[in-house]
Amino acid sequence: MQPAELTGAAEQKMADVAALLRRFSRPDTLIGHGGKVKTIAAGHYTVTGLSHHVRLGEFVAHQSKTGVHLGEVVRVEPDVIFVCPIEPGDPIGIGDLVLRRGAFRLSPDDSWCGRTINSLGEPIDGLGALQSGTKARSISNTAPPSMTRQRVTKGFKTGVRAIDIFSPLCLGQRLGIFAGSGVGKSTLLSMLARADAFDKVVIALVGERGREVREFIEDTLGANLQKSVAVVATSDESPMLRKMAPLSAITIAEHFRDEGHNVLLIVDSVTRFAHAIREVATASGEPPVARGYPASVFTEMPKLLERAGPGPEGTGSITAIISILVDGDNHNDPIADSTRGILDGHIVLDRALAEEGRYPPIDPLASISRLARKAWTPDEEKLVSRLKSLIHRFEETRDLRLIGGYRPGADPDLDMAVKQVPPIYEVLKQSPGDRPSRDAFADMATALKNAASQNQAPAANMVRQR
Ligand SMILES: Nc1ncnc2c1ncn2[C@@H]1O[C@H](COP(=O)(O)OP(=O)(O)O)[C@@H](O)[C@H]1O
Ligand SMILES: [Mg+2]
Repeated sequence: MQPAELTGAAEQKMADVAALLRRFSRPDTLIGHGGKVKTIAAGHYTVTGLSHHVRLGEFVAHQSKTGVHLGEVVRVEPDVIFVCPIEPGDPIGIGDLVLRRGAFRLSPDDSWCGRTINSLGEPIDGLGALQSGTKARSISNTAPPSMTRQRVTKGFKTGVRAIDIFSPLCLGQRLGIFAGSGVGKSTLLSMLARADAFDKVVIALVGERGREVREFIEDTLGANLQKSVAVVATSDESPMLRKMAPLSAITIAEHFRDEGHNVLLIVDSVTRFAHAIREVATASGEPPVARGYPASVFTEMPKLLERAGPGPEGTGSITAIISILVDGDNHNDPIADSTRGILDGHIVLDRALAEEGRYPPIDPLASISRLARKAWTPDEEKLVSRLKSLIHRFEETRDLRLIGGYRPGADPDLDMAVKQVPPIYEVLKQSPGDRPSRDAFADMATALKNAASQNQAPAANMVRQR
């Protein structure tokens, strides 16, 4: 070979190497990283060869004879990673190939409205395949930076009188509904899902009974079905799917928010989401820190809720209404406690009110909306404060009145409470079949006026009626 040819060949090689370098330095170039299954246990398996290539929370694909099965990386050690399979029943063998997949992504599209999907974004309503949107979004996205977010300023009517009067809400607010089981959380959520103020509604049903899911979606959403997407992981599904449902739901909500819509996100219930995180964490050996809950529960919940709220300038908002099951009616359990602090308001449902048949069983004195003052007019605020003091007076003298210790005329404030609180309670009653209220304050005023005109009977009779 001549020296000139030699130089030519070397130059060609150099050019090839440079082209390769350019190709692999592009961010969209995929380099596959693979490992092998090392040990298998109930709830998780370990993989060698991937420790230096995956991050916590990423997904891997396990290849077996029956196909490709996804799993989430729940722990990374120097020589093995721990993976929780999405479907625990998937067959796994020692030595099976496991490939890195990266963050789990959904590509939501406007055509998803009216559909019911699972946590993986697959349709489960038998209405055919879903169309993918143009942008793939990681379900473990982070919240927009706080200084870029719009401020919450605009109130809206939910149509539920007890909320519109005592704890009115604003677009972009995050509200929790706290109650024991069977008190009326899901029913109240379904009433709130019908609020007119929203362009889109995304519902995550986590750990519900399968029977309730269809009921919720078909009966209660009614006309709003066409602007709603439901993400469902029932109680019999794997903890991974239950854990992913609210994340997938908020990712879809973010898609609509970025298109400028005001979105309502409903999560029923966040406690089941916390239970699912606990199950996943326990399977991978994360130690519990508070009543059996691992530390990751207390970082995942704020991460999820922080993603709701107003979007950056030029986008819409995500109003989140979530239910929290308080175990054994103990309102101080760790999940209730930690969520209360990161919400902009909480509605407390009281079992005693439900037992009296006063639905929705909202306790007006224990429920607060931290943004209520932006939603009330000054007059409404004054009126609510007056109503609350009447209710407080009525409730604190309940025992006294029951034992006959109340004499009308001795305390004008108490006389007023005794006359007006029963009609107030009557106005607050509402069931899912009732028409949503357009103006709760007007309803209240009419009812109080009617009560005053009919109320010729002595106040003592009112007590007996109760
Ligand atoms: N607003 C309401 N009006 C009438 N009945 C209600 C209302 N809310 C709840 N209920 C009754 O309470 C039961 C339990 O409610 P549900 O919403 O399923 O409770 P939770 O979700 O807290 O377990 C319902 O089946 C229904 O009979
Ligand atoms: Mg429920």
